[in-house]
Order: sequence, then C-alpha cells, then structure tokens
Amino acid sequence: MKAFWIDSQMPIPINELQHHGVSFQHLPTNESDYLPQLKEIMALNGYYAMDQVILNESTPNFEDICKKFIDEHLHTDDEVRFVLNGSGVFEIRSLQDQWMKIIVEEGDFISVPANRFHRFYLTDENTICCMRLFKDKSGWVPLYRKNLESSTSR
Ligand SMILES: [Fe+2]
Repeated sequence: MKAFWIDSQMPIPINELQHHGVSFQHLPTNESDYLPQLKEIMALNGYYAMDQVILNESTPNFEDICKKFIDEHLHTDDEVRFVLNGSGVFEIRSLQDQWMKIIVEEGDFISVPANRFHRFYLTDENTICCMRLFKDKSGWVPLYRKNLESSTSR
C-alpha cells in the first residue's frame, strides 16, 4: 500500500487515513488465514455478505465497468475490499474534501466509508481480484458527484 495527498505528494500514515474514516490493514492472502479475519471484521461492522470479484481485460464489459468507477461518486454503504491479487487505485476525499490517493495491492484491506466521494481505477497491471464485504447490496450503487451537485444547485 502507498497512500499520499495528491496535492502535496506527502505520504499519509495509516492512523491519518483512519482519522479521515478510511480503514486500512494488511492481511495474509491464504484463505485459511484471511477468512477468519474477514469474518471477524464482518461481525464487528455488521457486514452480512461477502463475494469475490475479478476485474481484468477478459471480464465481459471490462471498459464499461472501469468507466463506471473512474468518475467521482459515493455509495450509501461502505466500499470494503480485500485484494487477493493485482492492484488498484482508490482516490478518496478527505474530511476537508482534499484528494487522498491510495494504491492497494495483494493483501491490502481497505474500507471507504459510506457517503464519501471517491473514484477507483486499475494500475498498469490492469487486473485485480478482491473479496468484497457488504452491509446492503442495494446500497452499493455509484451516485455520481456531478449528478448530485447539479440536482442540489437547481
Ligand atoms: Fe465506489
């Protein structure tokens, strides 16, 4: 994991991410080790469902799926990901609306809080496989900032 402020390029330590509502930890990637830890995180935070997703060039509608997450958006549920392999980039707004950039890779666990603007894209590796945890699958729909702000400014 690498985390830094986009403006200043200064690194962001894990406790500062936590202050801005973003949980991060590094877990082992063999199933017998990570599964009990994910189950504990689920019980502690009220996540009821877990699934696994793979995103790479052989995923049907790969380009469209990538486009869905590159624009700034939020969800009404936390976005919780544990990276089994590959890598990705989360850019998440701080409490003061500044961009924080977090590059996640194998073994990284991240939780983006509900209702926080962020965007996501793949690295040059162009592949990621992660476990996702949900409180409410219906809440995991992207709500785009440009749409939310144009509807509130009318
Ligand atoms: Fe998202």
